[in-house]
Amino acid sequence: MVVGAGAREHALAEAISKSPNCAALFVAPGSDAMPGIRIDAQPDDLNGIRHACRSNDIKLVVIGPEAALAAGLADTLIEDGVAVFGPTRSCARLEWSKAYTREVADRLGIPSPRSKTFAKGEVDAAMKWWRDLAVPVVVKASGLAAGKGVLVPQTDVEIEAAIKQMVHDTETVLEERLTGAEYSLIAMCDGTRAVAFPLSQDHKRIAEGDRGPNTGGMGAYAPAPAPGMPTLDDLVRVFIQPILDHMNSLGTPYRGALYAGLMHTTDGPKLIEYNCRFGDPEAQVLLPLLQEDLLPILYACAKGNVASDLKPKMFGAAFGIVLASEGYPEKPKTGKIIKGLDEIDRKNSFAYHAGTQKVGNEFKTAGGRVLTVVGTGVDLVSARAAAYAAVDKISFERMQFRRDIGWRARGAMLTSYAATGVDIDEGTKAVDKMKAAVEATHGPNVLRGVGSFGGSIDVSVLKDYDHPVLVASTDGVGTKVEIAARTGRYRGVGADIVNHCINDVLVQGAKPLFFLDYVASSKLRSEMVAEIVEGMASACKVAECALLGGETAEMPGVYNDGAFDIAGTLVGVVDRAKLLPSSPPRPGDVLIGIASNGPHTNGYSLLRKAFEWMPLETVVAPLEVSLADALLEPHRNYLPVLERVLREDLARALVHITGGGLPDNLPRVLPENVCAVVEVDSWPVPPLFRLVREILAMDKEELYRTLNMGIGMVVVASPDQTDDVRNAIREQTWIIGRLEAGQRGVVLR
Ligand code: AMP
Ligand code: GLY
Repeated sequence: MVVGAGAREHALAEAISKSPNCAALFVAPGSDAMPGIRIDAQPDDLNGIRHACRSNDIKLVVIGPEAALAAGLADTLIEDGVAVFGPTRSCARLEWSKAYTREVADRLGIPSPRSKTFAKGEVDAAMKWWRDLAVPVVVKASGLAAGKGVLVPQTDVEIEAAIKQMVHDTETVLEERLTGAEYSLIAMCDGTRAVAFPLSQDHKRIAEGDRGPNTGGMGAYAPAPAPGMPTLDDLVRVFIQPILDHMNSLGTPYRGALYAGLMHTTDGPKLIEYNCRFGDPEAQVLLPLLQEDLLPILYACAKGNVASDLKPKMFGAAFGIVLASEGYPEKPKTGKIIKGLDEIDRKNSFAYHAGTQKVGNEFKTAGGRVLTVVGTGVDLVSARAAAYAAVDKISFERMQFRRDIGWRARGAMLTSYAATGVDIDEGTKAVDKMKAAVEATHGPNVLRGVGSFGGSIDVSVLKDYDHPVLVASTDGVGTKVEIAARTGRYRGVGADIVNHCINDVLVQGAKPLFFLDYVASSKLRSEMVAEIVEGMASACKVAECALLGGETAEMPGVYNDGAFDIAGTLVGVVDRAKLLPSSPPRPGDVLIGIASNGPHTNGYSLLRKAFEWMPLETVVAPLEVSLADALLEPHRNYLPVLERVLREDLARALVHITGGGLPDNLPRVLPENVCAVVEVDSWPVPPLFRLVREILAMDKEELYRTLNMGIGMVVVASPDQTDDVRNAIREQTWIIGRLEAGQRGVVLR
């Protein structure tokens, strides 16, 4: 027979009912959800329960709640020769009298807060004791109070008020207020031996963040990782065994669950309280972990003959979330329909009922704590997920529960920064690997580079300019990095970002001075970072641009696994007189196109989707290289090609065809009343772009706005300089259109 009606007793009944050693299970009074035959007797109805035991030949009684223990139910049944799991009234005094607990603990040398007990009315003495102690205290009614007899006042004013009120009303224990994480140490005891469960942790306050009034418990999990705490064996030796030995010496062996509430202070664990029963909701998370039959253990404890080497097998972890009624803990509102109980995943979750009532085919709420929803798993992470997944299925009006159950366990599982996925050493390694490549871009003008807080560059060269203007650009390479990450080819995108920035300052006539980069990834691998930065460094070297500094960030959880991103800033210089556009482009000007060598750094979200179902290593007709090669071809640097055009002041304006393609980039240099007419058949569209045009259901405007379609740079030249420009460029160019009078914009023909 299981005595009680709550979720703890539901968990006990559930475990016992599964035992092959259980011929029949009775519950007194049980609940509509519990297995077993119900006996109409409350836990403290000694005669009712005694009678039921006699008439049903009950062999073992497992007592859940403290009220029954304090009432002496165990004593009554033992007189009748029934085996009882649950201590006698005199042993249970450890729970029903806090004054007794403190006295015993002090006598046995069990680590405890400093404390003193005051009889009802001894207010002056209590006040004096507190004042002499000169630290904050906790004020506890000595007797049973269902978790509500403890005041933890914060300010001196509150402490004084609490002492005055409590001591005026009842026998009171004052205790030094300790701080630290709390753990529940629960052992099944046979009078001499203890079989301990791993540590669990309850959450006593009503609200998330451990705020608000105390409750009977809002959730628990086990096993609780308790870094810095002694081993389980040591805890049993210090907090459980002395009690068993003491009770034995008094001739009243302790048989049943003994629960030590511990606080992990900077001075080690200290005793907050003893309970003489399983914890609620701790039982709900401990019993499901047991890999063997609970019943024989309970029976052996009751009979005083647990095998001395018994170490119960436990597996995995469990989280229990208490679902409570609106108004709990003060004035719960009940009678609400509970939905979703049948929808939870039975493989890894279970709802233990505490305050419910079956009405027809439905369960309604009938108490403050309504259910403990338990999830199990191989570890705490999966157990937590299972528990909250089940909670998500269940609902009743104004249901209260905490979403932070077990939050301390997350921190307690972290033993190093590296365990969070951030590896500082790997960052240092990356710097070592990239150092040589970066320093190869440094001339004597670079005073501080790798390893300094900021790069330093001597810009005396600016003195050679009549009127130096700095031109700066910051950019990224967009989702091209995803293809680089997927193929493990990093060097190219490093070059991409540098060349992209070079072209952005180039179109204003400027030559690069220095570049700064940023590399961020989910997981930092030094080879990967080194490769990216080497790509940047070699592009910088070609452009005679110093790679002056950078930053590497490891951001697990911000970037998807395996993903990375890069960005860069480039600063260049141009004499003010040479700033482009040299004069406003005008109708009649010619648009000279220079080839791109791929999509450069734009349109990759489209390209990745367009080729989503084609393996990247495939050579797709009519391409002559693999798709990966075609897509990863690094952005060109137009500086060498345009060197002469710039030197000889041949261009009116330059246009870098980046995001937005020809339609969005050409207008950036156009005055309001000038429009560009682009003949889309005037240059050969490269195979990759032709292929894309073929497979996409996209109109021309949209396509040219997304991709450069083979033109990466446009020179705007006056008609009489067109030939000079084309001669100054040592590669094929195309006249791709002209400027006309009209509203600023681009017409594709
Ligand atoms: P108890 O009923 O004795 O377990 O007390 C209820 C709660 O009050 C405990 O779980 C603690 O959070 C808090 N508490 C009790 N005693 C102390 C103490 N000496 N120092 C700090 N907090 C305490
Ligand atoms: N979970 C706290 C108790 O059972 O007293």
